Amino acid sequence: MNRHYYIAGNWKMFNTRAQSAQLAQELVNELKDGKHKYLVAPSFTNIETVSAIIQGTNIRLGAQNCAPEEQGAHTGEVSVLQLKDLGVETIILGHSERRHSYKEDDALINKKVKLALKHGFEVILCIGELLEEREAGKVEEVCETQTVKGLEGVNVLELGNVVIAYEPVWAIGTGKTATPQDAEAVHVFVRKVIGRLYGEDAASKIIIQYGGSVKPENAAELMAMENIDGALVGGASLKPESFVPIAKFA
Ligand code: PGA
Repeated sequence: MNRHYYIAGNWKMFNTRAQSAQLAQELVNELKDGKHKYLVAPSFTNIETVSAIIQGTNIRLGAQNCAPEEQGAHTGEVSVLQLKDLGVETIILGHSERRHSYKEDDALINKKVKLALKHGFEVILCIGELLEEREAGKVEEVCETQTVKGLEGVNVLELGNVVIAYEPVWAIGTGKTATPQDAEAVHVFVRKVIGRLYGEDAASKIIIQYGGSVKPENAAELMAMENIDGALVGGASLKPESFVPIAKFA
């Protein structure tokens, strides 16, 4: 396999600056000999603090969202220019909490994806079905639509800066994980969609992470699947005791 493993921590709306700093410092110490690609995505208010700690280490700096416009009268939003200024390298977009709690649709997510790529960011585009969609046999339809619409207007060169995270919504923060086989089936399908859109070479190279209740106990068996190239970790990324064993899965 010519793809690398990429383990990312989405800290969501947790931690003060002091708590983020402590977590970041512990991860820097514990992961310095780690073999994979790593990322942490703190809250906007904690990015600068974390940036100072992980600078020059093997941990990348991420943000959890960005505005769909570069700048302007957009109260409460954060711009890609501001994120760039803080040293952010990667932006997570289309997370299920953004899609479902904050009603972001594919068109809005696509606008953000294109803007972030234009400014040279790596994008982690999250996709995934709701439980009722899985039960109605719509997993492929939903994942295909979110992938195709999320990437509309993105060229093959830009795709090199895109990572996809398959996160079945029913598995996020619930303790329920997709079985490695069920997750693998969706990863294979998404890779096929990428192949249709961008060709076989691009499809074989794109990193597809799995997310949804990843923990030390299930990381290795998920990562053993041929088309699962890493993890987007929420709850378990908030403590070194759980994130480090995932990041160093054997
Ligand atoms: P979880 O979250 O690991 O807590 O299920 C994953 C995510 O939301 O990215």
